[in-house]
Amino acid sequence: MNMPNFYQHYCPGRIIAGYDALKKIPSLMDRLGCKTAMVVTDKGVVAAGLIKHVEAAFEGADCSIAHVFDESPPDSSNIASNKLAGLFKGYKCDLFLAVGGGSALDTAKGANIVISQKSDDLLNIQGAENIEADLLPTIAVPTTAGTGSEVTKAAVIYNEEKKVKMLFSADKLYPTMAVLDPKMSATVPPKITAATGLDALTHSIEAFINLQKNPIDDAYAVAAIELIAKYIVRATENGASDMEARFGMANAALMAGAAFSNSMVGIVHSLAHACGAVCHVPHGLANGILLPWSLEYNLPRVAEYIGQLCEPLGCEQTGSDPLEQARLTIRAIRDLEERLNGVCGLPLRLKDAGVSGDKLPMVARVAVNDGCLMYNPLEVGYEDALRVLRNAF
Ligand SMILES: [Fe+2]
Repeated sequence: MNMPNFYQHYCPGRIIAGYDALKKIPSLMDRLGCKTAMVVTDKGVVAAGLIKHVEAAFEGADCSIAHVFDESPPDSSNIASNKLAGLFKGYKCDLFLAVGGGSALDTAKGANIVISQKSDDLLNIQGAENIEADLLPTIAVPTTAGTGSEVTKAAVIYNEEKKVKMLFSADKLYPTMAVLDPKMSATVPPKITAATGLDALTHSIEAFINLQKNPIDDAYAVAAIELIAKYIVRATENGASDMEARFGMANAALMAGAAFSNSMVGIVHSLAHACGAVCHVPHGLANGILLPWSLEYNLPRVAEYIGQLCEPLGCEQTGSDPLEQARLTIRAIRDLEERLNGVCGLPLRLKDAGVSGDKLPMVARVAVNDGCLMYNPLEVGYEDALRVLRNAF
């Protein structure tokens, strides 16, 4: 790669990872000077029996769980965050223990902002780097391997009264610690395992090729891609018992998160966000479908970088022509997705994922206003976005 003239990388949280990593939570709380945890989760996580693993980790410990808040909605909201903030204060908690996907963590972040900023309206604080007070400690325990939100600084919270999504982004929003324990993702169904894993793959690849790429994020991205190539099919096929594959994917998602929270993402995410907004396509699924087509779009500018991902994806480098190498990378991604399709029926086309053809122009219009396009190697206009969508349809 050409060395960038300037870059920065920030990933401040402590990471604890292992087959019984949950057991370390009480000693981590001790290290943070905390005694009373508020578990923040959702009803699906509780129904899957995962909170029992967390509660078991506290047996005989000096610290305790005061309450399990299981009302995080699929899109975390200001109302859920406000309610959680009230309970947190009522139970005299001193630490958020977020157990779940991005939404549980975002709900905890929302409540944390309300408490720490001594505000009762999140709308006053939304935006970038608007959080002045120090937040209370948060330990994040992800239950899916995809978003990487355990190491990212953003939170998206839906304002139910004003019907708008509020974006918060601030260094103070990084979770204090992340705990990766493979048993926490063992119950994720095959299709969601595949889709969330492809979200992590997209984070890594977009971080590696886009305008803010840098040597540190590249290292995280390549390591994540190698793990995903090795484990995503195994985790999808046999996720209830293959803990090695689950652990590999949990590590990959975290490293991909560390990479893209600095290098950012690009056209794939812009198109996927728009598919989600207009047609409700799940985020990871949309990314997986759009990834190979978007890489073809970016080929004229970053063939060399795309080609370098051939080996991490597990295929042999066959020549020195960057374009040929890049096409091999894209072929390897398509092969991987076809294997996932064979294992769990993962859709490979937008039309099989709930998108109707007449919606494509609207999806393209929404996508060209998405902020992620700023970091894409090539500029993307409306006609370009529509072409990629039509190819992926
Ligand atoms: Fe994503």
